[in-house]
Amino acid sequence: MSKITISLVKADVGSTPGHHMVHPKQVEKAREMLSEAVKGELIIDFYVFHCGDDLELLMTHRMGENNPEVHGLAWNVFKTVTEEVSKPLKLYAAGQDLLSDSFSGNVKGLGPGIAEMEFTERRSEPIIAFAADKTEPGAFNLPLYRIFADPLTCAGLVIDPSMHRGFTFRVLDLKEDKHVDLKCPEEMYDLVSLIGTTNRYVVERVYRTLDSMIACVASTTKLSLIAGKYVGKDDPCMLVRCQHGLPAVGEVLTPFGFPHLVSGFMRGSHIGPLMPVGLKDAKCTLFDGPPRVVALGFTLTEGRLIGLNGSEPADLFEDVAFDHARRTANLITDYIRRHGEFMPARLGPEDMEYTTLPQILERLHPRFKPHS
Ligand code: 13P
Ligand code: 13P
Ligand code: MG
Ligand code: MG
Repeated sequence: MSKITISLVKADVGSTPGHHMVHPKQVEKAREMLSEAVKGELIIDFYVFHCGDDLELLMTHRMGENNPEVHGLAWNVFKTVTEEVSKPLKLYAAGQDLLSDSFSGNVKGLGPGIAEMEFTERRSEPIIAFAADKTEPGAFNLPLYRIFADPLTCAGLVIDPSMHRGFTFRVLDLKEDKHVDLKCPEEMYDLVSLIGTTNRYVVERVYRTLDSMIACVASTTKLSLIAGKYVGKDDPCMLVRCQHGLPAVGEVLTPFGFPHLVSGFMRGSHIGPLMPVGLKDAKCTLFDGPPRVVALGFTLTEGRLIGLNGSEPADLFEDVAFDHARRTANLITDYIRRHGEFMPARLGPEDMEYTTLPQILERLHPRFKPHS
């Protein structure tokens, strides 16, 4: 049997009101187009969902990674939803993440975020699709470190012989557009020194060191680097394979029980806690936040996405076990927002998605006097 590819492609193509939520008609249009693609046998299965104002297309197929037809399909869905739904309904920031008018075979570099991996389906293939809103790709660095390198989080690293040699992290330098592979536990301190710098170094892939088996892939799009200016935050998504020689579903979810601080929030220019939520709560409000993350669980069966109730996935963060994380995230939000526009609640000028600072400095320039 040929290999299966799973592609999670996302874009913000407009929302209501403001940057709050994707409109149901956008989801409906995307579903309609992907159903046609199943009939045309380009893809095997799909699931359309959203996290806040980001439209997420989860697709399975046998076309491999970076396939122009599959990427073209996703691009077409985002363009059509923008033209036929977002613009007529005057949704906010229609087509926000589509930075080009022309498609040339791959969505990478054009604005949408993508997490995509090809593998041979195992006897059972549990997979979790993550999507976050009001944050950036570096938001997954800390949980990925805990899942694949921290023996206090992932018991399998200690107990399971096939995980005992650890995992290799592919870390992308977003500024230089280069990557480096770092093996854990051997190079753990090097890894942490890089990925602690969440606005520059991001984990792109994780492999099981024993046999280079792909375990995880995350989107790494940085819109501000593509466009050279503010065009919206780069809300990330990722795919994680689980169980049988890889971290268990519960080991993959555990780090999100700690609502760590991430960049994003209001106007992409603040820090806030990443709140794990079920799909029904994947919508930002207070100060356009706090930032949210959802986790949807499936079992892949010959490329079909097997959920719990028809094609509905297991909505993993909906569970009461994450109530405590949500309460903590609300407390942290309250504490941080009392700082207003003072760092570190507000990001440093180089990380703010947009700022009036240059204009203010220009206006005040003549009034700055030498200070002895
Ligand atoms: P606007 O100028 O587009 O209103 O930008 C603010 C914003 O939407 C960020 O929340
Ligand atoms: P999004 O990146 O989710 O569109 O949010 C933009 C923003 O400015 C929110 O305040
Ligand atoms: Mg938006
Ligand atoms: Mg968003």
